Amino acid sequence: MTRFVGSVAFLLALGGPLAAAPQDMALPEPTAQLKAPADQGHAAGFEAAQGNCMTCHSVDYIAMQPPGKGPAFWESEVTKMVKVYKAPVAEADAKAIAAYLGATY
Ligand code: HEC
Repeated sequence: MTRFVGSVAFLLALGGPLAAAPQDMALPEPTAQLKAPADQGHAAGFEAAQGNCMTCHSVDYIAMQPPGKGPAFWESEVTKMVKVYKAPVAEADAKAIAAYLGATY
């Protein structure tokens, strides 16, 4: 029993300085959202991506791909999501999403 009380006191002591850590850290760039499309022509793909590509994983999976991979890369990426991981994306949406990603990332 005394051992239990002792470890609780230890944890409380530890929590003190941690809770008082400074709150003015610089925040990283927001990556929780998809980038807005460069032009109106990709607005539909942007919307479809918002509705279909953030249900299983975060936007980081998209954002962390090397930039400038182009439409063909994104087409195969979207196809993989549908075929391999069973993402329920309509074919027209998949095309629009790939075009939007290819133009934007
Ligand atoms: C049904 C769930 C699901 C949906 C919906 C989904 N994904 Fe994925 N995605 C996955 C899984 C599972 C992985 C692999 C995770 C891992 O390897 O750790 C993944 C990985 C990725 C990756 C990382 C590279 C790779 O190939 O592993 C990218 C990019 C990606 N998804 C893009 C998309 C896009 C774009 C959409 C929208 C069309 C989408 N995902 C929708 C399940 C999904």
